[in-house]
Amino acid sequence: MLKSPEKPTLTIQQHILTEQQRFPEASGEFSFLLSGITLASKLIQAQVRRAGLGNILGAAGEENVQGELQQKLDVYANDVMIDKLSCRRSVGILASEENECAVMMPHDTADASYAVIFDPLDGSSNIDVNVSVGTTFSIFRRPVGPQYDDPNTWILQNGTQQIAAGYVVYGSSTIMVYTVGNGVHGFTLDPAVGAFVMSHENMKMPEQGKYYSVNEAYRDNFPTQYRTFLEGLRRGELGTKYGSRYIGSMVADFHRTLLRGGVFLYPPTSDHANGKLRLLYEANPIAMIAEQAGGVATNGKSRILDIKPEAIHQRTPLVVGSRKEMDYFQSLSE
Ligand code: AHG
Ligand code: MN
Ligand code: MN
Repeated sequence: MLKSPEKPTLTIQQHILTEQQRFPEASGEFSFLLSGITLASKLIQAQVRRAGLGNILGAAGEENVQGELQQKLDVYANDVMIDKLSCRRSVGILASEENECAVMMPHDTADASYAVIFDPLDGSSNIDVNVSVGTTFSIFRRPVGPQYDDPNTWILQNGTQQIAAGYVVYGSSTIMVYTVGNGVHGFTLDPAVGAFVMSHENMKMPEQGKYYSVNEAYRDNFPTQYRTFLEGLRRGELGTKYGSRYIGSMVADFHRTLLRGGVFLYPPTSDHANGKLRLLYEANPIAMIAEQAGGVATNGKSRILDIKPEAIHQRTPLVVGSRKEMDYFQSLSE
């Protein structure tokens, strides 16, 4: 006879419904919106798992607004996210790494009170070589006031105004990690049932780790504070001599940092004063998750979540990690 599991299975949909009760005015629209993201990520992971079969690897032949060559899976993931979110009446506007301008929803904006901003496929240089990739998302509510009648203005809010944020890693398993400002929770996709099931409850970043994660090929071009920081970690200034881990997919590098502690950074360089990562759909969701888990995220000078965005695709340096490493980094500021 089948034994019942020791702990009842908690799916992400059940969890979202419980979390939604924290918003007294919530009508069910918010959980329906998040279910659009979980559905899209299941469809994306199904294609990622088939990469190498069929005709889904390689470049799509177009460049995105940032001049980066789009991969076929970038385009597929973007289309799926837009398709599964645009049929939610609560969504007023969508913004994506892959679209120059935000996508306005055709339905009446009086009903629509959310903006969703996402990177449909993060780490696209890793797709063709079977290395982990991911998706990130950030959600804002429509701010109050007539100046916000244009949904474009909903997008350029400080990260502190995010009402939910999260990411999916398509790794050795598929995991979704999300927060609505009440802790960080991880749900692993159970392929047998096709549902995200709670696997990591109330995640906390360790106070200290033993790895730093950075593209060291650029280190001669990092500002002094960053070079001193990395040298200090290598020398054992924090009581242990650090090793390095760098995948080149921010989501996967951050996920390891969340679980094991340490620091992930994409510094400014002499060629790129703002680094490479984008504030709205890369740094902001990662920073909200990090802070909710007890970590710290800065642009080297100030808290990521306090930056007032000026453009959808603006870049920012990012240093995110455990409290101990981040205190040390900040103590070296010039
Ligand atoms: P994307 O694939 O969405 O354009 O993002 C790639 C980003 C990020 O995932 C990663 O941390 C970084 O690019 C790696 O850049 P380098 O190759 O310069 O290290
Ligand atoms: Mn990315
Ligand atoms: Mn991307």
